Amino acid sequence: MRAVYVCVCNGVTDRDIQRAVDEGCDSLESLASRTGCGSTCGCCREYAAEAITQARTQSRGLGLPIAA
Ligand code: FES
Repeated sequence: MRAVYVCVCNGVTDRDIQRAVDEGCDSLESLASRTGCGSTCGCCREYAAEAITQARTQSRGLGLPIAA
């Protein structure tokens, strides 16, 4: 699966956000300090917040398909 850019200004992808969340990032502020995401023009902040929420779900294993 391809990575998708969430923050073009700082070259941050959804995979970078997943990695940051897996390593303990839990807010936009900590994501910005870790990756720079949202710290330049700021127009990605809303999508970055959604990506953090989605990454938390993936980290907990709730986003994985369940085989029947
Ligand atoms: S697109 Fe993320 S700070 Fe500009």
